[in-house]
Formats: sequence, structure tokens, C-alpha cells
Amino acid sequence: MTNQLKQTIKDMVVVGKGILAADESAKTAAKRLASINVESTEETRRQYRNLILNAPGMEQYICGVILFEETLHQKSDDGILFPQLLEKNGIVPGIKVDDGLADLEGHPNEQYTKGIETLSKRLEKYKKSRPRFAKWRAVYSISENTPSELLIKRNAEGLAKYAKVCQQHSLVPIVEPEVLIDGIHSIETCYKVTGKVQKAVFEALKREGVMLEYTILKPSMVISGKQAANRANAGEVAKRTVKCLKSNVSAEVPSINFLSGGQTPQEATAHLNRMHILGEELPWYVSFSYGRALQDPALKAWHGKPENVEAGQKAFLKRARLNSLATKGLYSEEMENE
Ligand code: 13P
Repeated sequence: MTNQLKQTIKDMVVVGKGILAADESAKTAAKRLASINVESTEETRRQYRNLILNAPGMEQYICGVILFEETLHQKSDDGILFPQLLEKNGIVPGIKVDDGLADLEGHPNEQYTKGIETLSKRLEKYKKSRPRFAKWRAVYSISENTPSELLIKRNAEGLAKYAKVCQQHSLVPIVEPEVLIDGIHSIETCYKVTGKVQKAVFEALKREGVMLEYTILKPSMVISGKQAANRANAGEVAKRTVKCLKSNVSAEVPSINFLSGGQTPQEATAHLNRMHILGEELPWYVSFSYGRALQDPALKAWHGKPENVEAGQKAFLKRARLNSLATKGLYSEEMENE
């Protein structure tokens, strides 16, 4: 079991590379496709996945892709199952395994992540597609009375139990506590909430006996609310994010791969880059696991038209390359105009 986990970590923690989140549920995929006036059907979702997962040379920048269950069974235009296509290109396939959100009792505005009761059975079912890692996302919103202590506790326990079950099945768990960007809160408030959430998650992981050296953390950045009046600059985001992680995340964790969470593609790249030029020693590899920040420009360039596939792939590869540079602190804004 540990040999497999060790190999997966080796294949997924590679300098200059990051993870692509392409695990939008059918519902979220429909939203993304609607934004370019494309109807969401099994076939249009396949066509879109085909564009992204077949982008030539993406393996220079991407070492792993998180897939949604439907994509495990779909094939590329060349008739190859998507997980096999990725492995063939030297990219590790993974699978989103949380079962979405459920209402938190007594807290009308909060939802916890469900799916733990059926997890083991589902992992057995996914085995034939040979995913090598998994992802589970928990969400927390910031407002006057959220997140509640109950939500922080419930989600921490869920993430820890999930991580333990994954490792028992030889899958590397990606642990994703996402503090949402929506709201008018200050970066200071985000710092406090994110610290509290991360602390609870790591206490729960340790209590559960999760092997942290075979675990990847996918956090949100410490950032001002999207609707805040005075939003903190990139330097501040980088400084606070690293400080928060250093206070709460064990150095045993090999890799931290951020989500983009509604930042613009440029912001997400610039923030990651800044973390690498702070001059601080980072005890983990620090990279990306972006969904929207890697894919949105590709969606817009494609617009559901076969003649735009190449343009879509180019747009995706550009973001992948710039984020790869950001993991080394080598990105600059001028590169956006190249
Ligand atoms: P975003 O980068 O679009 O936030 O997606 C990452 C993800 O995996 C959300 O679960």
C-alpha cells in the first residue's frame, strides 16, 4: 500500500508542475457550458474534456488531473478512455469522491460535505478505471456568524475520515478545505477564519492517523472578499497565505496545491508567483490545482466550435505554462501579452 502511495507522491510532486481540476460535476459543467451558450449533454461535456485532456504537451506543466466520475468512462476522439490517455502521457489520473453538500442542522446558511458512508464502496467501483488519487472538498463561507464551530468540526472530521479511507485503498488524498472568496470581509478576517479551519483539519487528520507524508493539501489563499471595498494587493495575499500555512500545516505534507476559487486567471498566477519570491523558506512544494483559472480562457476561446479547438488548447496551455513558471517565481505580468 505505501509503495503505491509513495510512487503517486513522487509522480505528483514535481518541480514546475501542478494539478488540473477538471472534476466539475454535471451541474457545474452545465453552468460553465451555458456561459459560452453551449447546451450541456454527455457528448458536449466529452468534447470539452477531449479538448483539454488532449492539449498537446500539457504534461510539461501538469502532473495530475482530477476527473469527475462521468469522465472516467468517456473516451477521447481517438477512442482512448480518458484515464488511460492521461497515464499514457505521463499524467496521473485522480477522481473527485465527495458527494456534494448537505444542509447543516441548526445552521440554515451552512452546508457540510457528505458521502463518507458510501465512500469505501465507491472507491472499489472506481478501481477498474485506475485512479491513483482522490479529492474531497469542504466549503466555508465568511459572514457575521459563519463559519460556525459545528461546521468547522464536521468538515474537519469528514476530510480526515475520507483521507484515511483513501490511503487504505492506496489512493493519495487531496484534502480541500475551501474558505469561499464571496463577501465583503477583509483579508484579516480571511486570515483568522482560514487559520481556524486549517488548524481543525490538521488536528483531525492527526487524530485519525492519516499519513501526512502521503497527503496533498489543496487550500484557498488568504485573500480579501471579492466584494470588499479595499482589496489587499498580491504581496499581502502571498505573505498572509504563507504565514497562515506555516502556522497550521505540518511540514510532513509534501505538497500544497492551491485552488483558484473565483480569482481571475491572472490573479491566481500572480499570487502563486509572489509566494515564491517572498524570500521565505517553504517546507512544502507549493503549486496549483486550479479549475477555473486554468480552463476559463480555453472555454471562451472554444465556444463549442470544432474550428476553435486548437485556439482553446492554446489558451489552456498558456495558463498552464504561466502557472508552471509561477511555481518557480519566474512569472511576470508582461508574459500575459506574449
Ligand atoms: P477552482 O480553481 O475553480 O476553484 O476549482 C478548484 C476545485 O477543484 C474546486 O473544488
